[in-house]
Amino acid sequence: MWRASFTKVGRVLAGFVLASLVGGAADKPASLDAAHWRQAFARPDHAPTPAENPATPEKIALGAKLFEDTRLSGSGDMACSTCHQADLSFSDGVDRHIGHDGQPLDRRTPPLWNLAWGLSFFWDGRASSLEVQAMGPIENEREMAGNLQTALRALDADPKIRKAFAAAFPDDPTVTQANLAKALAAFQRTLVSPETRFDRWVKGDDKALEPNELAGFSLFVGKAGCVACHQGWRFTDEAFHDIGLPGEDKGRGPILGVNAANHAFKTPSLRERVWSAPYMHDGSLATFDDVVAHYAEHVVQRPTVSADLPRRIELNDEERAQLVAFLATLSSDDPPRPASLPAKAMSWGTDERAIPTSTVGQKDKRFTPGAIILKLGEALRIVNDDTRVHNVRLDGRGRSFNSDAQNPGDTVTIGFDEPGHYDVICGIHPEMRLSVEVAQVR
Ligand code: HEC
Ligand code: HEC
Repeated sequence: MWRASFTKVGRVLAGFVLASLVGGAADKPASLDAAHWRQAFARPDHAPTPAENPATPEKIALGAKLFEDTRLSGSGDMACSTCHQADLSFSDGVDRHIGHDGQPLDRRTPPLWNLAWGLSFFWDGRASSLEVQAMGPIENEREMAGNLQTALRALDADPKIRKAFAAAFPDDPTVTQANLAKALAAFQRTLVSPETRFDRWVKGDDKALEPNELAGFSLFVGKAGCVACHQGWRFTDEAFHDIGLPGEDKGRGPILGVNAANHAFKTPSLRERVWSAPYMHDGSLATFDDVVAHYAEHVVQRPTVSADLPRRIELNDEERAQLVAFLATLSSDDPPRPASLPAKAMSWGTDERAIPTSTVGQKDKRFTPGAIILKLGEALRIVNDDTRVHNVRLDGRGRSFNSDAQNPGDTVTIGFDEPGHYDVICGIHPEMRLSVEVAQVR
């Protein structure tokens, strides 16, 4: 029943997006609810920093140095910055970087903006934090081909570096893998993309965007359907989607062990992308025009294509040009330099008050309620009343659960043998978090 109302306007126009769009007939330019979108795209005033690795100036300075240090690679000729170049939005300008074996890497080097807000890392989300991610390229045979222990010994032999580690980690002044990872992560969290013309419009300056750019924004949040995935000031929902690019790479599917997530990749931010062409996980699209043409004409139809991707996007030449003009307003006019935002300790849990119940819904990519109290012995029922495929997961406390693909209409049931706190997530939409308090009742 709930479904019928969605199919009329296309499955992408879910929830709050729907509320602001009904009334915009297909051919007429939809009138833009500027107040609504200005709120939806407002920039934050702080950057999150995890409690386990608080940002300090010394740590950030050390991370910045290490990011450029070729001693981290086996050959001594490659640093993080070899592939993640500041002037290219911390990407490298090629479709796929040539690896140590002379062959192109499997995927394109992603830009590194705004990862402080990230929930998972790499195109397939296989790293759970920037601290975990940092060890990947060093040990990777095809990327830096380094040996971590060798690299740590080389750094430890350098008195200047030892001093910098001691300043950054006064409680544990050693050159260790954990401290190396923390410093690199702390530095990368400072890579916040600066304000652009679009942000001036968001702040209320109506003249900051040209009429064609504003028309492009109307399409972006309207009939082109882009905002279903590219949402919030960073323009990403942090989720994994198959957008119908040809290619064999299975992306998120093998990471989760869920075939329904095959060909799904993390929605990238769209900030400062003028500087980071070519685009997509495989670097297969050279320009914004190619990207828009992909969405309008070249989507490979297969069962895994995201429910958030409109089945058909019709855009004439003028509209395509408007969308491209809008995308450019999310980039700086000169090679961007990171904005400085004060850091603030943040946790990703829900701050909702826990409600006693055993049934949870998933509409609009949200567990509702987001925090519950369950009686020990009672089964938790998670009902997919959403339009999307989900993947309910639970890790930790000796309890691990993976629902596989949970299609719209499916109910997942989880039992708990032990009282305590459990975090339930969706492997495809990591912003979905459910806090479960299993309580003993006598
Ligand atoms: C040889 C090129 C190369 C080097 C050197 C390199 N990277 Fe990368 N980086 C990549 C590629 C390619 C990916 C994407 C891999 C994937 O998703 O499977 C990536 C992904 C990342 C990501 C994930 C971004 C996201 O959006 O999830 C981060 C963070 C990152 N690299 C940081 C680093 C750091 C820190 C170093 C140095 C220790 C480094 N990289 C060295 C090529 C490189
Ligand atoms: C179903 C979710 C979804 C929708 C809808 C969507 N995108 Fe994307 N977008 C993604 C994902 C996921 C990727 C990365 C795909 C990959 O590399 O396999 C991406 C990549 C991009 C990129 C390349 C960014 C980069 O750094 O490589 C651009 C630009 C882009 N999208 C713009 C748009 C525009 C414009 C629209 C509307 C016409 C749109 N997207 C609609 C999910 C979506």
